[in-house]
Amino acid sequence: MPSDTAGSWTPVALSADLPLATVIPAWTPAGSIALWRSQSGRASASSDRCPHRGMRLSHGFVRGEALSCIYHGWSYSPAGGCVRIPAHPDLVPPETIRVAVQRVEESDGIVWVAVGEPALPPPRLGHLVPIRSLTLNADIAAIEAAAGGKVDADGLIRVADCPWMRLLPTAQTGCTLIYVLVEQDRNVADRITASRIAEAVRRRAETRQKDAA
Ligand code: FES
Repeated sequence: MPSDTAGSWTPVALSADLPLATVIPAWTPAGSIALWRSQSGRASASSDRCPHRGMRLSHGFVRGEALSCIYHGWSYSPAGGCVRIPAHPDLVPPETIRVAVQRVEESDGIVWVAVGEPALPPPRLGHLVPIRSLTLNADIAAIEAAAGGKVDADGLIRVADCPWMRLLPTAQTGCTLIYVLVEQDRNVADRITASRIAEAVRRRAETRQKDAA
């Protein structure tokens, strides 16, 4: 995971998996988050807990430029301030009603969320593009062994069977999320091949993990 002394960046979703006006659950080492995209296209991240009664905000909905809680409809801006309380439509919500938010950067088709205050931007993938993500019931060591490569300084694993693809892993609670990346000039057939290789890596890694338990 790309990091510096002040913080780190976690890849939390493919940009394509976060359409306009949607919210999804995601995870960073600091905990669960609600990841959402406004109607105008801005990606934002907040704690996955509504300050009112604790409902998960990832179960909520997006309307315009605000994220609303499914329980009583309190709505929050990308900066975390409460902007509307439906039961009191004439009330301007006090500034003290806030949800914690995280910095979000989107680049090369991946949404990154900051843990802490990283001084550097998220890494660029250069000539690589993401094609899909996969969840593996295996740790990063088992994935490295299954792929035949180690995590490098950019956080990427080279796959021994396929020199033009990489895996970008991020550890989660009890599993690992990987993003499958290929060189950007690869055609559809190559992308399908890379996807199948990633699935084979998953099977091998999960078998290793199971055997080691
Ligand atoms: S719990 Fe979220 S608005 Fe009530």
